[in-house]
Amino acid sequence: MTGASRGIGAAIARALARDGWPVGINYRTDHRGAEAVVTQIEGQGGRAVALAADVADPNAPDELFSALESHFGGRVLVLVNNAGLRRDDLTPSLGDEEWSTVLDVDLTAAFRLTRKALGPMLRARSGRIVNISSVVALRANPGQANYAAAKAGMIALTRTAAVEVARRGVTVNAVAPGWIDTDMTAEVATDLLAAVPARRAGTPEEVAACVRFLVSDEASYVTGAVLTVDGGLAA
Ligand SMILES: NC(=O)c1ccc[n+]([C@@H]2O[C@H](COP(=O)([O-])OP(=O)(O)OC[C@H]3O[C@@H](n4cnc5c(N)ncnc54)[C@H](OP(=O)(O)O)[C@@H]3O)[C@@H](O)[C@H]2O)c1
Repeated sequence: MTGASRGIGAAIARALARDGWPVGINYRTDHRGAEAVVTQIEGQGGRAVALAADVADPNAPDELFSALESHFGGRVLVLVNNAGLRRDDLTPSLGDEEWSTVLDVDLTAAFRLTRKALGPMLRARSGRIVNISSVVALRANPGQANYAAAKAGMIALTRTAAVEVARRGVTVNAVAPGWIDTDMTAEVATDLLAAVPARRAGTPEEVAACVRFLVSDEASYVTGAVLTVDGGLAA
């Protein structure tokens, strides 16, 4: 579970732990937040471990999977690519640094972790990968060309990988949240909410509920799908 120290990732981690999954709480800088999520999960009888790693580091998949396997024992059969950031600017002034940072964290890291996860999942003929994309992959949002390109790439990665592995009992799906109330949206002007048919922001728990379904046995025939959780924004 990448980027689980706060926001949507923390809510997903708590939801999966309630379903009995031991959860790796990956984070980059927010050690205190990650440990707080571990404490919450353990307080509810679940199992979790905080794992520091910058997912944009090419070594992160090997390090994270080794740490998970040695801490919990057994193979990693669920991967949620949630870690993400945004560096907004209008396209004429968007810098190379803002472009490549967002692509590295929001797309390339998900590819590398998916590649790493698929081997054991295919051997086990069982696995679930859920990629946290965004509604901006489906509906333009000025100032987010880098973020939208990464999140749209994530959907293409999801669909392609899903078709490649569908015969082997492994599903790959994407969730595309709209406006969700987290640190990431804290500084965004709330008048944009007028464009949301539901006229409110979503909660991290509302996104987590969809991920929980996609990871469950009940979703065994759902693959290559993109589930919007956006109060109707992309409808
Ligand atoms: N909030 C929304 O409205 C919204 C809408 C659509 C999609 N999303 C997507 O949902 C995901 C979660 O968003 P959020 O709103 O919960 O964001 P958030 O509150 O800003 O939290 C981001 C999480 O990602 C982690 N992270 C960032 N860069 C990382 C890196 N290089 N390596 C490892 N972890 C990293 C952060 O860890 P540290 O704190 O340690 O840095 C944090 O746990 C993101 O992919 C985002 O693009 C969010």
